[in-house]
Amino acid sequence: MKPSEILQQSFTLPCGVTIPNRIVKSAMSENNADRGGRPSERLNRLYEKWGKGGAGILISGNVMMDHKALGEPRNVVIEDEKYLEELTVWAEKAQAHGSHLWMQINHPGRQAPKINKELVSASDVQLPMKGMFDRPRPLTEEEIRTIIDGFGNTALMAKKAGWKGVQIHGAHGYLVSQFLSTRTNLRTDQWGGSLENRARFPLEIYKNMRKKVGPDFPIGIKINSADFQRGAFTEEESLEVIDMLSAAGMDMIEVSGGTYEKAAMMGAGKKLKESTKQREAYFAEFIVKARARTKVPLLLTGGFRTVDVMANAISNKELDFVGMARPFAVYPNMVNEIFTGNRTDVHIPPVKTGIGKIDNMGFLDIAYYSQQMKMMGNGQEPNPKLSAWKLLFNYVRKTLF
Ligand SMILES: Cc1cc2nc3c(=O)[nH]c(=O)nc-3n(C[C@H](O)[C@H](O)[C@H](O)COP(=O)(O)O)c2cc1C
Repeated sequence: MKPSEILQQSFTLPCGVTIPNRIVKSAMSENNADRGGRPSERLNRLYEKWGKGGAGILISGNVMMDHKALGEPRNVVIEDEKYLEELTVWAEKAQAHGSHLWMQINHPGRQAPKINKELVSASDVQLPMKGMFDRPRPLTEEEIRTIIDGFGNTALMAKKAGWKGVQIHGAHGYLVSQFLSTRTNLRTDQWGGSLENRARFPLEIYKNMRKKVGPDFPIGIKINSADFQRGAFTEEESLEVIDMLSAAGMDMIEVSGGTYEKAAMMGAGKKLKESTKQREAYFAEFIVKARARTKVPLLLTGGFRTVDVMANAISNKELDFVGMARPFAVYPNMVNEIFTGNRTDVHIPPVKTGIGKIDNMGFLDIAYYSQQMKMMGNGQEPNPKLSAWKLLFNYVRKTLF
């Protein structure tokens, strides 16, 4: 089989839903909701474009399940039926050409800049960037139960609005990650201590969602292969959590890694072995270990750029779905182009001013991809050659004036 044919094969999830192909657009926070977390026309236009692009699944940027707990200022917030109509239009636009739209559902916990009245987490462990992030208050038992129920309600809203799946955001240092890691979870009750106790939070979220959406609606989770910090969530722990999630009945596990403190999900600070470089994916070694432990469909995200490499990973049965995020912001039609044999890679020009100190700070990268999504939301084409200087100028103007 040709690489493009391998990636075009459909795949049936444990819940019985068939995904049309193996390429998934991973979550990218669009930061483009209207006031009050209402899904906007701009999101409809962006997803209409992505929907025409041919991906098997389009996973939304993180949608918040509680208006008191935003991760970023312009997040979509879904707590109840208030925005059901907007969600329905969003799904229709995204799914008109066969892609499945999944909602990534998140609570940021302690990892939110100063936009919430207060921060909550498993324990009162503050992020080291103290000027930006306040000290969180530990959640009470009752509040934990309310959040679990809230994740379930948001999933039900997605289903009611015609979305075809949901994903729990259990990665990148947000609330679920905070419960999983002994660095941020110091609790001594049933939600802390042993790994079994720390994993209770995502497992209870899963069970609550499943009860509400039924057996035939896809539920996935994105988790870290590791947090890549001393004393934090380790690879061995992640593998054990994958065992627990598999036994619970999860339909798809997406593997990523890192937190705000160590952005391994974007390839930062990880020394890659030559063999890993050839396989491109930042967590290529981990996925092989995960595959040996679970039959649950695996999605791997982070670093994939060459079609041959993606197809190899699928045909070696290391994983079932290839996830990409940043390339979708620049090449929205790339999946169609891959399938027709017109594209063999999705490399993106580096976003650089040429001044090392500025280029290493990371914000230009995020600004570049956010701007591409904004342009598509405004009905324009993305621009791979977007100037780093222009982004820097806009960033300074917005921050200082
Ligand atoms: C602008 C931007 C926003 C992101 N927002 C999210 C998000 O909301 N949820 C999430 O799980 N990952 C998010 N990510 C991480 C991506 O899903 C992905 O894990 C990462 O970009 C690595 O994949 P890539 O190399 O294909 O870009 C974001 C990445 C970028 C660039």
